[in-house]
Amino acid sequence: MATLIRTPFFSPTTFTSSNNNNQLLLLRLHSSKQPTHSSFPNFSISCSSQSQSQSPRHRPPYIPNHIPDPSYVRIFDTTLRDGEQSPGASMTSKEKLDIARQLAKLGVDIIEAGFPAASTDDFEAVKMIANEVGNAVDDNGYVPVICGLSRCNENDIQTAWNAVKHAKRPRIHTFIATSAIHMEFKLRMSKQQVIDKARTMVAFARSLGCQDVEFSPEDAGRSDREFLYQILGEVIKAGATTLNIPDTVGITMPSEFGKLIADIKANTPGVENVIISTHCQNDLGLSTANTIEGARAGARQLEVTINGIGERAGNASLEEVVMALKCGGHIFNNLFTGINTRHIYLTSRMVEEYSGLQLQPHKALVGANAFAHESGIHQDGMLKHKGTYEIISPEDIGLERSNEAGIVLGKLSGRHAMRKRLEELGYELKDDQVESLFWRFKAVAEQKKRITDADLRALVSDEVFQAEPIWKLDDLQFR
Ligand code: KIV
Repeated sequence: MATLIRTPFFSPTTFTSSNNNNQLLLLRLHSSKQPTHSSFPNFSISCSSQSQSQSPRHRPPYIPNHIPDPSYVRIFDTTLRDGEQSPGASMTSKEKLDIARQLAKLGVDIIEAGFPAASTDDFEAVKMIANEVGNAVDDNGYVPVICGLSRCNENDIQTAWNAVKHAKRPRIHTFIATSAIHMEFKLRMSKQQVIDKARTMVAFARSLGCQDVEFSPEDAGRSDREFLYQILGEVIKAGATTLNIPDTVGITMPSEFGKLIADIKANTPGVENVIISTHCQNDLGLSTANTIEGARAGARQLEVTINGIGERAGNASLEEVVMALKCGGHIFNNLFTGINTRHIYLTSRMVEEYSGLQLQPHKALVGANAFAHESGIHQDGMLKHKGTYEIISPEDIGLERSNEAGIVLGKLSGRHAMRKRLEELGYELKDDQVESLFWRFKAVAEQKKRITDADLRALVSDEVFQAEPIWKLDDLQFR
């Protein structure tokens, strides 16, 4: 006798982006569409979508060395510079331009568009971004600063300036190493030579007509503190407007990095006239934590990349830092950014696609599993109240779920989740039908990691909606 088996077909879980403007606020138990439980206290349980009653906070006007609102944190995106230094990630000029446009939609304050002296291609890409994205002023007067990186030498600085100068808000970012190991083995320069170089090159950048100059003491995390205060004080006098503090090798612990920022703010002469910035590499997986600690200690510019791409283990990721600041607003004195979080997901996809650097499924916020709930206990909780296992709703970063509760059906799923999904698909089944379907469902789930809507439909029509047999095939022979 021939047995016909219907093979469930694969249809991947799909998410779509959304363009709505959004801000995150704290969700209270009583404020959601979920059932209320009046016996529970009215405490914050998660970050959630915007409440119309809260007035939005505005991005303050751009002044290079000063932020009129002390709670505002600038987001400096270096996906196109440090991000592109990721092994295996190189992008065409057209791809870089697309990403820069998307970064402007996202609302980043500064785009580090590349390292113009590195190659003619880099120079042309930075110039194109400066001319196009750097002049696209929106209705609110927002336009990102376009920044070019340079070492501390006249050729690099001049080339960076030539690339960015036609942007409405051009910035030169120049750096030199300040740690003993870098000065001795890489630069072969004394402390005094490094100070002289930094001071004269910052002054040179200003002499070109650039009003916005960022200086980074490379490997600040391993640099002598007193030396840092001294060199930073000197570059402030020479005209630097932002001082960026890189943990170049990702070695500092969050509390140490926070203290480094606090110490620089307390001991550097003239520091009240500049913005302090963080740049944290992810060698120990601490880049987001370090960046947040930097902001807590007074940094008001945070250097990040989309998906956390960058040299070696990458940089602090924009999406993690921005969402952590939002969710932790209550302990960060309500710091805020100008990022429109609804564009995060699409930007992440674009960078993944163009850089070729694929995200791990469990990457925070933007990984494929970031909003997927697979175990039966979690699914049951999600069906009862999304706040049980979800601190951010996917819509807040521009994702729409494939089903209401964000549930992924698989071998750990329970009857409740399976039935709920079937109801969402329009099937009203009796208890005994659910029961018999459930065992078929479990058997398929053992073989197949994810059970899709198409699989469920196939199971229902195979198990439940079976027509009464009119005739039966007993045997079939081929000759
Ligand atoms: O990691 C680093 O130190 C840098 C600087 C140039 C900011 O990328």
